[in-house]
Amino acid sequence: MNTKAIKMSVPLILVAAIAYLILSPSRYVGYAPDQPIPFNHKIHAGDNNIDCRYCHVTVETSAHASVPPTAVCMNCHKLVATKKDDVKRLLDHYNNKKPVEWIKVHDEPDFVFFNHSRHIARGVDCSRCHGNVTEMVKVEQVESLNMGFCVNCHRENNAPNDCSTCHR
Ligand code: HEC
Ligand code: HEC
Ligand code: HEC
Ligand code: HEC
Ligand code: HEC
Repeated sequence: MNTKAIKMSVPLILVAAIAYLILSPSRYVGYAPDQPIPFNHKIHAGDNNIDCRYCHVTVETSAHASVPPTAVCMNCHKLVATKKDDVKRLLDHYNNKKPVEWIKVHDEPDFVFFNHSRHIARGVDCSRCHGNVTEMVKVEQVESLNMGFCVNCHRENNAPNDCSTCHR
């Protein structure tokens, strides 16, 4: 191959690789691990209408959305449903200062940069990326969160789409 052919083939490979990524199904749709204490979003965020931000306090201000410490749960569970086994276990954690080790459900690879606050500030609803969490007895990943998913929405909304937006 002469150098001209090599120069031409590099962008072609890149385009093919990107097309593959965009079209390939994600590995994670449907991922719904058992949590150390079953936490039911339908009861809390659905039936009892507790705001997402009451528990995920940093979602508007940081790249990552925080998961609440047991002290937040205790605001209610010192009194609410204290006879239920799972709530007793929660109390055990709290009294022994042992954090509940929640298992991460949505997880981008390290080479992807994502930032919650930028999206929330632009009025993108949680459900666009996480589905209808208020109906979930157990959190499940419903969107692929792969590159095509991100890039398509950025294109539709005139959000920045050069590679360094998400890979830095
Ligand atoms: C534009 C898409 C998008 C929107 C909108 C969004 N999220 Fe996320 N969320 C993600 C992605 C992607 C991850 C995984 C991030 C990672 O692993 O770095 C994530 C992870 C999380 C996590 C785990 C902790 C973390 O930050 O990694 C929580 C909790 C969460 N989101 C809650 C929320 C809540 C609550 C809202 C609405 C107020 C929301 N998200 C809106 C895409 C989104
Ligand atoms: C603002 C109040 C409030 C907060 C904060 C709260 N809960 Fe609850 N929780 C409730 C209510 C109300 C119920 C339903 C009680 C019932 O049906 O008797 C409930 C029920 C439960 C149950 C029993 C579920 C079942 O199947 O019956 C568990 C377990 C639980 N919560 C865990 C948690 C955990 C873990 C946290 C912290 C991450 C938390 N809760 C934070 C109000 C709250
Ligand atoms: C009472 C506290 C509480 C409220 C209210 C709440 N969450 Fe959560 N959320 C949790 C806890 C605890 C976890 C970790 C356990 C789990 O994944 O079920 C969690 C996990 C999540 C995750 C998965 C994080 C990951 O690891 O990828 C998402 C997404 C999420 N919540 C979104 C929401 C949205 C959207 C709302 C509002 C509609 C909401 N939550 C309301 C306590 C809460
Ligand atoms: C529902 C539409 C939508 C989806 C899905 C979405 N985004 Fe965005 N994103 C936006 C919008 C709109 C902005 C512009 C926010 C602004 O103007 O501040 C943005 C901004 C960003 C920024 C900040 C850009 C900057 O200027 O620094 C990053 C980083 C980002 N998105 C990463 C991602 C990643 C990674 C995913 C996929 C996991 C994703 N986004 C999915 C709509 C979306
Ligand atoms: C709006 C966000 C966003 C933009 C812009 C973006 N990417 Fe990505 N990219 C992602 C996400 C999210 C993944 C992770 C996909 C997954 O895990 O399924 C990814 C994965 C990749 C991978 C995958 C490696 C692998 O095997 O998983 C490569 C290579 C890549 N991107 C290159 C690029 C190039 C080159 C550009 C510029 C043309 C670009 N990306 C622009 C979000 C973005």
